[in-house]
Amino acid sequence: MLPDGRPVRAFTLRNDQLTMQVIEYGAIITSLSTPDRQGRSGDVVLGHDSLDGYLEHSPYFGAVVGRFANRIARGRFALDGVTYQLARNDGENHLHGGVRGFDKRLWRGEVLTEDAQPAVAFRYVSEDGEEGYPGRLDVVVSYVLASSGELRVRYRARTDKPTILNLTQHSYFNLTAGTTDVLGHVLTMNASRFTPVDAGLIPTGVLRDVSGTSFDFRSPTPIGARIDARDEQLALAGGYDHNFVIDRADDHTLALAARVHEPTSGRTLEVRTTQPGVQLYSGNFLDGSITGKGGRRYAHRTGFCLETQHFPDSPNEPAFPSVVLRPGEEYDEETVFTFGAT
Ligand code: GLA
Repeated sequence: MLPDGRPVRAFTLRNDQLTMQVIEYGAIITSLSTPDRQGRSGDVVLGHDSLDGYLEHSPYFGAVVGRFANRIARGRFALDGVTYQLARNDGENHLHGGVRGFDKRLWRGEVLTEDAQPAVAFRYVSEDGEEGYPGRLDVVVSYVLASSGELRVRYRARTDKPTILNLTQHSYFNLTAGTTDVLGHVLTMNASRFTPVDAGLIPTGVLRDVSGTSFDFRSPTPIGARIDARDEQLALAGGYDHNFVIDRADDHTLALAARVHEPTSGRTLEVRTTQPGVQLYSGNFLDGSITGKGGRRYAHRTGFCLETQHFPDSPNEPAFPSVVLRPGEEYDEETVFTFGAT
């Protein structure tokens, strides 16, 4: 129950490989259990045992982030000649939808029974002007456990006024199902370019070639292999906290974003998406101050995120793919997380 008395329901979805718990607050994935190579099930996402934990101390654990995932410079953008000012909740910039983004809203969950696969849809209506964004936005995010090992996340939205939108899923993964750091996870990214940032983690507008840099994950490389290398970009973010430009056709099909293999458990994760970018975040802000599930403290870099998205600060970068949504159009994006073990 929320402090104002509104109930928060939880749903459990299960198939032959995965068991997932989701709650109506933030449309948060609170647990996701997958088998390791011996068939032993383990929870591979960071989070809390109770709703209170999420209310008190949660850096977007498992949540749907909106209306605009990641940053907008100075919280300002112009659309059709009108300038909008959003909250500056990250230094001078806007981050993850503002003071009370979608991760802190109560969604309405509904089990999708017409689907042969376990599925739940969360709906949230964001009023015109909420957090400073124009347009009344009707959003539906569905989670479907598809054939062995697949979690499909589909985002749909409509607006009644021109607006901007950039939704993502902010799960922190640790494929060991434990609390060791994630630096040994072997990562492959389908990205030859990334968007370097300034000191406020706002993209400079350049799409930089990853060749010869610590950002080249085109062949399998442990997350930690170069994370402490001398590199201006790694220093600015305290590790990886960057948007990668997915190598993909300019269309709306699912394309590979990343693959992860955790050698001790054998667990694997593959991420495919209709979106143009993915934020690799190596849990740099985790510092042991948050105690999560089972009384475990989340130390530095004990979770990583692969946040599929449009590029940060897109509203102020005309050359980046557009994030504008107009009345009559449907926002429709999908990301598929496939879990396995080898
Ligand atoms: C995103 C941001 C990070 C940080 C985390 C959550 O990855 O880019 O800077 O805000 O979310 O702490």
